[in-house]
Amino acid sequence: MIARRPLLALPAVLVGAGRGRAQGPLFTLGVASGDPRPDSLVLWTRLAPEPLAPDGGMGVAPTPLSWELAEDDGFRRILRRGEVTAAAVDAHSVHVELSGLPPGRPFFFRFHAAGQVSPTGRTRTAPAPGDPAPVRFMNAACQNWEHGHFTAWAHAARQEDVAFVFHSGDSIYEYAGRDRPGGWGPLVRRHHGGHCRTLADYRIRHAQYRTDADLQAAHAAHPFIASYDDHEVENNWAGDLGGRDRAGQRDDPGGFPARRQAALQAWWEHMPLPREARDRAFRRFRFGRLLDLHVLDTRRFRDEQPCGDGARQACEAVADPRAQMLGPAQEAWLREGIAGGEGWQVLAQQVFMAPRLFEGDRLSMDSWDGVPAARARLLALLAGRDAAVLTGDVHRAWAADLAAAPGGPVVAAEFVATSITSEGDGSPAQAGAAGLVARNPWLRFHSNFRGFTLHEAHPDRLEARFMAVPFVTRPGAPLEQAGHLATLPGKPGLVPG
Ligand SMILES: [Fe+2]
Repeated sequence: MIARRPLLALPAVLVGAGRGRAQGPLFTLGVASGDPRPDSLVLWTRLAPEPLAPDGGMGVAPTPLSWELAEDDGFRRILRRGEVTAAAVDAHSVHVELSGLPPGRPFFFRFHAAGQVSPTGRTRTAPAPGDPAPVRFMNAACQNWEHGHFTAWAHAARQEDVAFVFHSGDSIYEYAGRDRPGGWGPLVRRHHGGHCRTLADYRIRHAQYRTDADLQAAHAAHPFIASYDDHEVENNWAGDLGGRDRAGQRDDPGGFPARRQAALQAWWEHMPLPREARDRAFRRFRFGRLLDLHVLDTRRFRDEQPCGDGARQACEAVADPRAQMLGPAQEAWLREGIAGGEGWQVLAQQVFMAPRLFEGDRLSMDSWDGVPAARARLLALLAGRDAAVLTGDVHRAWAADLAAAPGGPVVAAEFVATSITSEGDGSPAQAGAAGLVARNPWLRFHSNFRGFTLHEAHPDRLEARFMAVPFVTRPGAPLEQAGHLATLPGKPGLVPG
């Protein structure tokens, strides 16, 4: 299969004129495509003969590449080709923004540089705006390198007819490599280097993740719509504020915005994103007549977690109607988009939206439970529409009925994707899940296995299949279906699939 083709074993080649020091295979991080629209796409690769070196082994010299877009994987019917330059300022990543493409069509693509050829990627444009055909897509999140093998990505790569993969974030974890097991999660393989703080640190971490063959296979098989969550920068950062350490103190007071900029630069360099997504990650996509995807940023414009981070009893700040999750500009953009939307209105975002009252009357202050007024405003936008919310972040699969007000009518369904690896091998249910469901009866489905969600939008239903791998601490897990739910037009909330 195309997506599983191994990297070509090519002889060492000296790249660049004098100043470049690159030797050996250049396309060690694979290829990717993303942000599919009816007429446009982004093609991505990064040259990195030494993925774990701060400069990827490329030195500072710009390096020319050519790219090809074809109808067939043998590249006999080439539709487009062009030249692009990989520059050190972007870590020798390239983001080819194609436009004027035909809608709803599959393509194959590859790059050439210094006599070497990249693996072949497969991608597709979004269907034309009026196209009534069903739309198949995935929701995935949270791929901690140390916690396991990316087997779920290998299975994701084998899915057919996927319009896009939404990645809600935690595409890396910033934590230092552990010398021995202990601490959070299993230690299956090690992070290279210490806790990420600088641009070089984040580049090395992204590159290490990108060397994974299963992750490369998924990116070579389907276009991604990438977002970020906290761990692309730091655990539970919020707006201009970094995360807190175990003592509740901010990690790098005053220095966080620069660190965030470095981290998001590295994120952009390693994702198939257009240039504008580096500064504005919230954006909208339309897939035919059936689906509008509103990709939200629940980190960059939010207020600090009220009452302190973590699971806490509500303090006065939780009731503050001014508290923000999206910020006024993004909220206005969302309001406008939903008002002008057609078909299923799907919010693709990060943090848990349904209320979760934990034992001892505690709430998760990092999630929408910390900003109930902002949540009520957002859910009011969905009332009367056929709507669903996609979530990540919690490393478990969940589904919930969402009501605009506690005890009020249901307005949408929430589908929470589990992690690819984060927190290691799964089990049928997380400890305490039964109690959580009993206190929060709008939580309608739970599974504690790793995996991803496979969705399908039809005129008469939006489906969710919770796909699971039974283990991740060893390679080779099979793919199983842990649950199947749906939501129907005109009848907000969940039904069996
Ligand atoms: Fe995560």
